[in-house]
Amino acid sequence: MREKLKWIPNQHDVGQDNDGQITALLSNFTLEQVKKVSQFQRTYEKFEKTPLHHLASLASYLDVEKIWIKDESFRFGLNAFKVLGGVYAIAQYVANLLNKDIEDLSFEQLKSSKIKDQLGELTFISTTDGNHGRGVAWAARELGFQARIYMPAGSAKERLQNIINEGAHAEITAMNYDDTVRYTSHLAKEHGWVLIQDTMWDGYEEIPLWIMQGYTTLIQEVVEEIEQAPTHVFLQAGVGSFAAAVVAFLRQYYEHEITIVLVEPHVANCYYESFKAGTNEFITVGGDMQTIMAGLACGEPNPQAWQLLNAYTKVSISCGEEVAATGMRILGNPLNTDTRIVAGESGAAPFGCFYEIMTNNRYRQLKDTLQLNSASRVLLINTEGDTDKENYRQIVWHGKYQ
Ligand SMILES: Cc1ncc(COP(=O)(O)O)c(C=O)c1O
Repeated sequence: MREKLKWIPNQHDVGQDNDGQITALLSNFTLEQVKKVSQFQRTYEKFEKTPLHHLASLASYLDVEKIWIKDESFRFGLNAFKVLGGVYAIAQYVANLLNKDIEDLSFEQLKSSKIKDQLGELTFISTTDGNHGRGVAWAARELGFQARIYMPAGSAKERLQNIINEGAHAEITAMNYDDTVRYTSHLAKEHGWVLIQDTMWDGYEEIPLWIMQGYTTLIQEVVEEIEQAPTHVFLQAGVGSFAAAVVAFLRQYYEHEITIVLVEPHVANCYYESFKAGTNEFITVGGDMQTIMAGLACGEPNPQAWQLLNAYTKVSISCGEEVAATGMRILGNPLNTDTRIVAGESGAAPFGCFYEIMTNNRYRQLKDTLQLNSASRVLLINTEGDTDKENYRQIVWHGKYQ
């Protein structure tokens, strides 16, 4: 039988940021930078911050002090956090074309016909498992541009339809995620389209960095709302851009160490394998990477995210499909007066791992390594809701997890 959880502690000293490269990377996520991002995002007329729930009964049941869940399923009505990155990157790209500082621009201004006349037609292209592409398509439509979105083989039809509904050209390819990224990068060059990709490689760094910066709004909202810092943060990773942005911000917001736990599916566990190798180089994994955690089905880390996460992650976990499924069911069926949270597969995976650690004696050593106890304040981020509704029901009602 496959292990529910495989885990590996970081073999380096965690939190040693006297390395010049890490300092340089952190400088992209200073409090000032993060404010600039959210200031722009808040100019969207329907902007609302997403809810942060404290699940008090569950915390008492699992014998920890607090369990906070930031529910990104409410972000911009798009059921996932990803739009934060896409919209900020497109806005920043347009600001650069206009030779303006984003601080001097609002969402409304970017939509104006004056700006369209100045810039002409622009087409944004991207690869996605669903959420990022929907965010890019939404941002392009809202701002009056075109979008072309490509999805890996096996992508859910509902997620494809959601993107088409945003007015984008969208299609499912016969390739896995990482190969589809290479394909869209090639198409972008061939047609003069602008690639808005949420991962980085040599020579393609600026736009993915804007995407990462875009994500920081959600963690800024969390820290503004809580009175005490979390002791533990569980973060899901696909290419790691999201987790690295959160970690880079937290590192600078709080002066003390927070225990960071990274979560990936077994079939796409490039961070886990990289931590296991124990060097400063990351490892990639391949294959078709079929998992219910579609948002995490990436086998090649974002190199800058890897550097940040290698510096600050305490433990890397690779989990089975049933762990995410259990997380979805528990969050959807709360105890007592706790709030019901509709968490999708990638959204629930970190909670599923946390629950397993707290309740399964097989992971006692992991619980001790993480020092999870009655004084722990645990923060989790539900990065998506039921973005594939049919699958959500199959999992939650019928116990499907493959
Ligand atoms: C719902 C959800 N959660 C988490 C992630 C992981 O983000 P990243 O690829 O930046 O690690 C994704 C990525 O698409 C996602 O869709």
